[in-house]
Amino acid sequence: MPKFYKIITYGCQMNIHDSEKLAGMLALRGYVENDDESLCDVIVFNTCCIRENAEDHAFGNIGALKQLKKRKPSLIIAVGGCMAQQAGEAEIIREKFPFVDIIFGTHNLDEFGILLDRKLSSNKKIVEIKDESGKIIEGVKPLRTSYPNAWVSIMQGCNNFCTYCIVPYVRGRERSRELMNIYAEVNVLVMSGYKEITLLGQNVNSYGKDLGDGTDFATLIEKLSEIKGDYRLRFMTNHPKDLTEKLINAVAKNEHCCHQIHLPLQSGSDRILKLMNRHYDSADYLREIEMIKKYMPDCAVSTDLMIGFPSETEEDFLDTLKMCEKVGFSSCFTFVYSRRRGTPADKMPDQVPDDVKKDRIMRLVECTNEKTRQFSSRYVGKTVRILCEDIDKKKNMYIGRDEYGRMGYFPSSRNVIGEFVDMKVTSANGISLFGEIE
Ligand code: SAH
Ligand code: SF4
Ligand code: F3S
Repeated sequence: MPKFYKIITYGCQMNIHDSEKLAGMLALRGYVENDDESLCDVIVFNTCCIRENAEDHAFGNIGALKQLKKRKPSLIIAVGGCMAQQAGEAEIIREKFPFVDIIFGTHNLDEFGILLDRKLSSNKKIVEIKDESGKIIEGVKPLRTSYPNAWVSIMQGCNNFCTYCIVPYVRGRERSRELMNIYAEVNVLVMSGYKEITLLGQNVNSYGKDLGDGTDFATLIEKLSEIKGDYRLRFMTNHPKDLTEKLINAVAKNEHCCHQIHLPLQSGSDRILKLMNRHYDSADYLREIEMIKKYMPDCAVSTDLMIGFPSETEEDFLDTLKMCEKVGFSSCFTFVYSRRRGTPADKMPDQVPDDVKKDRIMRLVECTNEKTRQFSSRYVGKTVRILCEDIDKKKNMYIGRDEYGRMGYFPSSRNVIGEFVDMKVTSANGISLFGEIE
């Protein structure tokens, strides 16, 4: 009988990729993935703390395992990731959930396998959180489960300290991987048939600053253009304060780069952007949009928007709506500001009341949905190149994405997962396009 594991992941793409690394360490020790928790020998929670609801979610799900652990004492439950990394949080987890066996943070995620070995040989509870990690450890082999897509982490951490955000406190300072290590990883992925590579970092366009040899993100994009093959290249996330013309030029020149840029605006109000410590204003942002369109007129720009930051007035909020109208984002992720312990914004006066936040998020979502719909409706009647990723069993259709990030659904008599197909768009709904392939 094989040993089974399940990893429950919360949060961003980087965390999802971290879970692939955890899966790699478990696979190396002979574990096989199984969705049925009652059959598992190891269950890992890879947590997030970006907003309160992400934490609540994890707490609820960890608590739900109490009975299972009682019935099956040999089950190992581990809690790691950003939530566990927060100051004092390991103690809280330990007290609230005494049945948890291993608690680890973001800075020692790469050592999870060793912690597990230790737990198995000693049967002692393990709580290990490191304050800061050193250089990035190479060689942890992720177990990739998202063919034809593959994620490649190019850097860790964040130096920006946006006043609302917890990430710099739980992910540490920016650390870039060596350019040739990234090149080698992408090259091997393309050679082994992956069709879409997404470069990941909290702030990819500040890549290389810490390497001290003049390497920047544009250098990396140029270097990667040497890798031949039929594949797409994406990257996320970009910070507007570091978006250079050199980078946009490099992206436009690299034929593999998708013409899609995720550029979080957060707020349309200059006053709020300043309080957020974002280092750009709405005019800078609009200039960047112009620059992107100069090099790539068809480029889709998506964004993150937040409402309810401390002291946000109706006027500030209307500035966000105005930017939404002006820029015409291809899609938006919208968030309600959530107080995070230890961040400067948590201590700011004038926290926005919940009912005001509720009203604003509803109005924002109405506006962004309309923009998304308008962007999609332009597709109807056109043919788009879709990379087929999966099959949607409920809809009984194949599913994939075009280079601008739109989801495409279509029927097919043969399995086309991992192939690029031309889809004639017959209808659109939100971010989804429906159509037929030849
Ligand atoms: N590094 C990226 C994204 C980080 S988190 C960037 O700088 O854009 C993803 C999004 O979560 C952010 O863009 C922001 O909109 C949102 N977010 C971060 N902290 C938040 C908080 N305290 N409350 C609500 N949303 C938050
Ligand atoms: Fe958070 Fe700002 Fe860093 Fe993004 S850039 S992770 S929002 S501190
Ligand atoms: Fe969450 Fe950590 Fe990502 S806080 S959003 S999992 S970097």
